[in-house]
Amino acid sequence: MQQDQPHQPSRRDVDVVKQPSWLTDLLDIPSLPCEGEVVVIRGIEMMMIHGILRSKSIMSESQEQTKKTFGFKWHQRNSFEGNVVLANMRAWLIERYGNVAHADWLREYGESPLILDAGCGAAMSALELFNEVLGSARYLGVDISTAVDVASVRFAERGLSAGFVQSDLTQLPFAPCSFDIIFSEGVLHHTDSTEHAFFSLANLLKPGGRFLFYVYQKKGPVREFTDDHIRAQLQGMTSEQAWEAMVPLTKLGQLLGELNIEIDVPEPIDLLNIPAGKIDLQRFFYWHVCKAYYRPDMMLDEMNHINFDWYAPRNAHRHTIDEVRTWCARAGFTIEREQVQEAGITIIGKKDRV
Ligand SMILES: C[S@@+](CC[C@H](N)C(=O)[O-])C[C@H]1O[C@@H](n2cnc3c(N)ncnc32)[C@H](O)[C@@H]1O
Repeated sequence: MQQDQPHQPSRRDVDVVKQPSWLTDLLDIPSLPCEGEVVVIRGIEMMMIHGILRSKSIMSESQEQTKKTFGFKWHQRNSFEGNVVLANMRAWLIERYGNVAHADWLREYGESPLILDAGCGAAMSALELFNEVLGSARYLGVDISTAVDVASVRFAERGLSAGFVQSDLTQLPFAPCSFDIIFSEGVLHHTDSTEHAFFSLANLLKPGGRFLFYVYQKKGPVREFTDDHIRAQLQGMTSEQAWEAMVPLTKLGQLLGELNIEIDVPEPIDLLNIPAGKIDLQRFFYWHVCKAYYRPDMMLDEMNHINFDWYAPRNAHRHTIDEVRTWCARAGFTIEREQVQEAGITIIGKKDRV
């Protein structure tokens, strides 16, 4: 069994958490509870700890493991806050979602859209993608893990006001049709059921609202096998042990990348879903054998963070574009933007007005 991680909020976290005044309206309560007080909001028992409302709901073992893993990961700030990592992430987000901060559709929600960042982690993606919009938007970050404490510090460091709640996104204390925009980058597949998480969030979106999300795509058979095999082995470890166990794999990815060798697969290998053509050896290994991330301008710890993010959480479901389209249709979404990459599926869906 994984042990509790020593990532309780620090004294500094406690000092900076100041919830915005609009949060009480959203929760439909007259005022926020005092420190240590327990309240029941829309049937969900929550406790105020260090200035953040935290759900007391029991969760499954796999969700608990996933929560602990991410709580640990997002507290390793030096492994994701370097300029290269953030610039790389910003570029990848804009490639998939477009430049959201300047999108025409954003103006439909006025000066201060209500944005739910469902599974915000340390708010890495939200800060990179929504960027200057966050100065006037009403941003609410929700995460099942103590990553919300890191996110709240990162907002405060930028002088940005925001709300934070620690809870499972499938059991949130908000009324249906509450939010203008829901952003859930790389989260739904880490819940117990991606489909259930999708519909839980869709229900919280106002008609005419937009749902921006990204889920993992199913890979070829060898990669799927290796992924399951490695993930299963990490389950018996603490987050610290899993982080260390990833390092040799990360070093192998680095070695393959530094070789800078291109191979030319002569014919498609249909049995293994491997296409023909030229590909860098590290990329071949990455896509078809085992995820071992490499970028020449990243530090080993930064690459290890990315591999850990992939392998350590027990919940990490993979999906097909047909599944995602079916969910969108059933929830009454018009897909406005669809990006299918080898790694995953990115969607901007607009909830139909009824
Ligand atoms: C890969 S991280 C992405 C974080 C953030 N969206 C970003 O892109 O910077 C996935 C996050 O989802 C959170 N998560 C997983 N299951 C969740 C759930 N059921 N409810 C809320 N958050 C969840 C994890 O704690 C983790 O911080």
